[in-house]
Amino acid sequence: MKTLDAFLAESAVEPSLNDVIRRIATCCEAINQQLQRGELAGILGSAGADNVQGETQKKLDVIANDMLKEALQACPQVRGIASEEEDEVVAANLKGQYLVTYDPLDGSSNIDINSMVGTIFSVLKGQGDGPVSEQEFLQPGRDQAAAGYVLYGPSTMLVFSTGDGVSMFTFDPATNDWIQTVERVALAPDTKEFAINMSNQRFWAEPMQNYVADLLQGSDGPRGKNFNMRWVAAMVADVHRILCRGGLFSYPWDSRKPDQAGKLRLMYEANPMGMLVEQAGGEAWTDSGRILDIQPEKIHQRVPVILGSSEEVKCCVEYHQR
Ligand code: AHG
Ligand code: MN
Ligand code: MN
Repeated sequence: MKTLDAFLAESAVEPSLNDVIRRIATCCEAINQQLQRGELAGILGSAGADNVQGETQKKLDVIANDMLKEALQACPQVRGIASEEEDEVVAANLKGQYLVTYDPLDGSSNIDINSMVGTIFSVLKGQGDGPVSEQEFLQPGRDQAAAGYVLYGPSTMLVFSTGDGVSMFTFDPATNDWIQTVERVALAPDTKEFAINMSNQRFWAEPMQNYVADLLQGSDGPRGKNFNMRWVAAMVADVHRILCRGGLFSYPWDSRKPDQAGKLRLMYEANPMGMLVEQAGGEAWTDSGRILDIQPEKIHQRVPVILGSSEEVKCCVEYHQR
């Protein structure tokens, strides 16, 4: 069984990029420790403030953000960072080669019920050594140097890609090592499982309504098979399940906030998850195109998301193209 350090030492990836990934993993070990102590660490509940997106911050959103910010600012390879919980991009070490975007705590509504949460990260190439600006971060997802997440579940897992497949590592609390437990993730092309927040059904656009209505008809409907549904309300956990056993995940546009393209954020949710899913053999779309081809316009931009098993994603996209 290979440790993360052995895996990184053998990889063909630049040591500087491996260093960034290692530091994120180490920081997530510390976030994991806080999560494991839960109420005992005094980390549950609201922080009493809203973030730039108008969402109430949990204490742990703020704590995890600060921990990652500190870890990445201490990394000489990192030029700048952008976080869900930071209004603006933040400078780190201007001579560094990389930019990191992250969602420090994904699935915040699960914190207080002791349910699964995660951390999502995306690594981009920096451009120059002048002052860091938002503009520099606005690169399409296909240019990500690396992407990954840590899932804080019954066991803690690190899943990432540097553009040559997806590996999974399980944290061993006895040795404080990350051990590679899946060498190369292969996402099944077909599925009978979907993940969507059904309570928003009446607000979706017609193509999504029609697609899900046909899934729900099961073997009596046009799809001719029965579908199962799962929704953890933490994208990391839902995507992890899909990488493990297939499925389709969507957070579509809905009419509750018609001016907002979707709920999920492009640069630290949709792009990194899109890269992982594609690297595992799946597809990642908005309702009109490939997520990784979007030219970002701002750091906290939102997008509709449809990703997972390739054939099922194509089927859902066809409903939108009809
Ligand atoms: P975050 O906690 O980082 O704001 O992200 C939550 C996201 C995503 O993880 C999840 O899929 C979705 O919001 C859940 O939304 P609902 O509460 O509408 O189900
Ligand atoms: Mn999130
Ligand atoms: Mn978050």
